[in-house]
Amino acid sequence: MTTQSFFPASLADVPADVQIEPIHQREYLLNGEMIAWSGRVADVYSPVGTPDESGNWQRHLVGSYPVCGPTEAMAALDAAVAAYDNGRGEWPQMPVAGRIACMETFIGKMLEKRSLVINLIMWEIGKNRPDATKEFDRTVKYIYDTINVLKDMDRNSSRFRIEEGIIGQIRRSPLGVVLSMGPFNYPLNETYTTLIPAILMGNTILFKTPKHGSLLHYPLLEAFRTSFPKGVVNSLYGRGAEVIPPVMQSGKVNVLTLIGSSRVADELQRFHPKLNRLRSILSLDAKNAAIILPDADLDVAVSECILGSLSFNGQRCTAIKIIWAHRSIVDQFLAKFGPAVSALKLGMPWTDGAQITPLPEPTKTDYLTDIIRDAEAGGARIMNEGGGEVVESLFRPAVVYPVKEGMKLYRDEQFGPVVPVVAYDDTEEFIDYLITDDHGMQASIFGSDPEAIAALIDPLVNLVSRVNINAQCQRGPDTFPFTGRKDSAEGTLSVEDALRSFSIRSAVATKDTTPNKTILNNIVGNHESVFLSTNFIF
Ligand code: G3H
Repeated sequence: MTTQSFFPASLADVPADVQIEPIHQREYLLNGEMIAWSGRVADVYSPVGTPDESGNWQRHLVGSYPVCGPTEAMAALDAAVAAYDNGRGEWPQMPVAGRIACMETFIGKMLEKRSLVINLIMWEIGKNRPDATKEFDRTVKYIYDTINVLKDMDRNSSRFRIEEGIIGQIRRSPLGVVLSMGPFNYPLNETYTTLIPAILMGNTILFKTPKHGSLLHYPLLEAFRTSFPKGVVNSLYGRGAEVIPPVMQSGKVNVLTLIGSSRVADELQRFHPKLNRLRSILSLDAKNAAIILPDADLDVAVSECILGSLSFNGQRCTAIKIIWAHRSIVDQFLAKFGPAVSALKLGMPWTDGAQITPLPEPTKTDYLTDIIRDAEAGGARIMNEGGGEVVESLFRPAVVYPVKEGMKLYRDEQFGPVVPVVAYDDTEEFIDYLITDDHGMQASIFGSDPEAIAALIDPLVNLVSRVNINAQCQRGPDTFPFTGRKDSAEGTLSVEDALRSFSIRSAVATKDTTPNKTILNNIVGNHESVFLSTNFIF
């Protein structure tokens, strides 16, 4: 592998529709204003690079963004707290139809930035063009779907219930100030799948952009600014270790939502002085395992395991991160899987058909090389041609076998293009692996005997939160619950679940007497309350 065979010789080699001028962001969104910033900045380097004048390969500078400090973080928190105003602010008091109208305005403005955001996803995190496009479009669809579910929820709440002599109306109410932090691998989608439902439910937001995949949020700040009342959405730029602790220590954050590591989630929650007041919606680490039974259709297993383990270079929380193949078919499986992995096309995010693209984390190729060396020291080897070859930020996927307890690859979430394969004799070994693992997101079963598959389904559903049959692990469709057990998640996300996660049921109740009914009739008839209302969203 050589640099020249994969990376552009100069920016002139990059397709015209992907080229962008460096974006040097010098402002951020706070309390309804774009605040000018002249302090520290962080340079954003792409995983894509070109040779410099001396011929040394250099990551391309995409731009830079503000590195704010605790003062700005506390100002953002104050803005969100003031906009919420203990639930009396304009936003938490706005009828659902009004909030939906603001969100629809936002979608229109977001769509205007589609091509720029997709380009930035490619440049900042190296996601290939089809997947970057899908990330944007899937996010827009998610917002529309969320709006539709919210309309349904509101319609179902637009009525009174009379039970046991009590008349009541029950609606979902906001929780308060939400601190939202997204990951680098789905910087737009996974930030928005928490942010959007949180906003729609009437909460006010502080959102921190990820280290990689930060600039792509900049074009959308103006859309937030002009679509929602001031202080509803506030951006938070800076080093997490500097800006997050004071915000959490204030005790004013009501909901922490983080897609990231369980270590960081544990740390952040502990900063909060009154943990019982904090709700956490977390999607964290995972080591999703696939099991290939002796009678599995190996062609299906190979194609799904390729998708599952190596889409976006294996940088998905839902990726298959370890494969257990029955000893009787492991050689056959590897004989098909290895060449299929080696045949994956390496290229730039915009290269037609590129499945393996440059990795955004600067030290990732070293880490992946190290965990392979560690497995080799324990007796495993790379099973596919060219596996583990590195050229700059590109890493040719490696299939490593036989992986065993004691090797880092057995337990570590590699989050990259290395696929460990384990041979097993008895399915109990696989179940025991899941029991002893710290994670519990998803698993995949490949097989054809219904009895054997059923015997695994029942224990597995109590160890992970989704069992896939003859299919890769994945989050979608977005209406399905996305959650996990143990260190993999807290709370549930899906179009509907997220709206529930970012709200609480509140009820207004009275005894079924004539004077009380008169009061209720007057309030509802004269539209005197937002909560107590039978208004119906059509
Ligand atoms: O990184 C985790 C993503 O939510 C995975 O989503 O399974 O649709 O790629 P996906």
